[in-house]
Amino acid sequence: METQHIRRVDYLVIGSGIAGLTFALKMAAHGTVCIVTKKHRAESNTNYAQGGIAAVTSKEDSFEMHVRDTLEAGAGLCDEAVVRTVIEEGPARITELIELGMRFSERETDSSVGVRELDLGKEGGHSKRRILHAKDVTGREIEQALLAAIAKHANIEICEDHLGIDLITSAKLGMKGRNRCLGAYVLDKARGEVLTICASVVLLATGGCGKVYLYTTNPDIATGDGVAMAYRAGVAVANMEFIQFHPTCLYHPKAKSFLISEAVRGEGGVLRSIAGVEFMEQYHPLKALAPRDIVARAIDSEMKRTGADHVQLDITHKPARFTMERFPNIYATCLQFGLDITKEPIPVVPAAHYQCGGVLTNVAGETELAGLYAVGEVACTGLHGANRLASNSLLEALVCAHRAAASALSYPVPENLEPIPAWQRGNASDPDELVVVSHNWDEIRRVMWDYVGIVRTNKRLKRAQSRIANLMAEIQDYYWDFNVTNDLLELRNIATVADLIIKSALERPESRGLHYNLDFPEKNPEWAQRDTILRRSQT
Ligand code: FAD
Ligand code: SIN
Repeated sequence: METQHIRRVDYLVIGSGIAGLTFALKMAAHGTVCIVTKKHRAESNTNYAQGGIAAVTSKEDSFEMHVRDTLEAGAGLCDEAVVRTVIEEGPARITELIELGMRFSERETDSSVGVRELDLGKEGGHSKRRILHAKDVTGREIEQALLAAIAKHANIEICEDHLGIDLITSAKLGMKGRNRCLGAYVLDKARGEVLTICASVVLLATGGCGKVYLYTTNPDIATGDGVAMAYRAGVAVANMEFIQFHPTCLYHPKAKSFLISEAVRGEGGVLRSIAGVEFMEQYHPLKALAPRDIVARAIDSEMKRTGADHVQLDITHKPARFTMERFPNIYATCLQFGLDITKEPIPVVPAAHYQCGGVLTNVAGETELAGLYAVGEVACTGLHGANRLASNSLLEALVCAHRAAASALSYPVPENLEPIPAWQRGNASDPDELVVVSHNWDEIRRVMWDYVGIVRTNKRLKRAQSRIANLMAEIQDYYWDFNVTNDLLELRNIATVADLIIKSALERPESRGLHYNLDFPEKNPEWAQRDTILRRSQT
């Protein structure tokens, strides 16, 4: 198998969700853009987003209220300047999205004269209706609108089934001067070849890491690759202990991972125990619309108290026609599993959903490595703090991609760089025992679910740490001995990210937002405003 493939582009984008596609569209007028994406171009967390995008668009709402709700959800750890920037710039970015062809749901305000306005949804932690949505398939509509716009640009190439392996940095190559990102090694999965793609600017837009956990709302692409790649390159990673568990994932033996949107609770859905008793009022005055960390912990506690393996989300009191029109995808999907949600409550459980931490960046996606940007779920800008407010992530991706594009345009393109060596495969051969890879995948995800979940203790975290350390050593041996494959590379990444989550959790001796540790059940004022920053030494 030949491996000497070296390419040069101006902008290399790794990932084709909302963050990568938005950035690519903005750079296309200024140079060649190559988007590498590890599966089909639409396969991303973005594609499955249901609830919508939070933004201030109504007269009854204000930036100040959205800022307050975001800070409240973030449990004292948000960067207020970042929060203000994202929220205040949101409406302009949404107008751009609409101009590209995105159609949000509308409602009639006066049927006699046909006046329509945006139909705003409500979700947990929001004091106002402010979620723009396309029924319950907002992400799919956004992804399609962005891909249609991308298709019109000759300057943008999308390479599907191409998996980013590692970043190429000048320091790693022993080059003199300030360390900078020079490109990435990328596996062309169909050919089994590793390409060297050199670029002036690299954007990590690889999304989150839900697959680190056994149960998740995320699709299979969410293996934390961007965080692992940045960490291996010596770039700072922050706040990885704050993994958000969505309270309501469908509980059904045949449903792999299907979310029941928080918007269902926003429209009146009630949480009940399996005995049919409402329980959220014991936990928070906002009941089922309390911030997500509180609802997920309440469900966890209710399940542990009663020994049940799920709780119920009940929307049967709403007119069937309303439910079917507002939530057509949820209605149809549940019906496929034999469940009519207009007539019976939905069995639900919490599942890993969103990574609030990530590669440390500013609001323009700039990382500490020159030439490397990170935008979207892969990044930690300071917007979400210790717990993300629902529907703030699509918003963050739009605003930060725009700012990253402006920053990348003013980035001085390095001149006279020495040639970059192609990927070295050494004496590696084809893998002989793939069972090692699949076994380790399962073990990591179960360890993380059992020991590093919604409620943590130091004992469980340490137990998980030693298990993951053993697995990492085994994976490392395997990595050097055999040719790289998609599964092996993702396995190495989920192991790295699992380790980062555990290390970060052990570094924070308090409970705050999504990080709840029974050994330190209260907030510690000394840790307010302190990010957990991890950096791998490059020596
Ligand atoms: P993604 O959309 O996840 O895209 C990542 C891309 O990177 C994919 O194309 C992937 O294939 C690619 N990739 C990953 N690793 C590599 C690699 N090594 N090499 C090449 N390509 C790679 N947020 C909201 O604000 N509102 C919502 O209503 C909402 N609903 C959600 C519902 C569900 C079921 C889920 C899972 C998430 C939801 N979220 C929601 C969160 C939100 O969808 C994500 O945070 C957001 O879409 C992330 O966008 P992104 O562009 O950063 O990453
Ligand atoms: C949902 O629709 O419940 C998901 C919203 C989000 O994760 O922001």
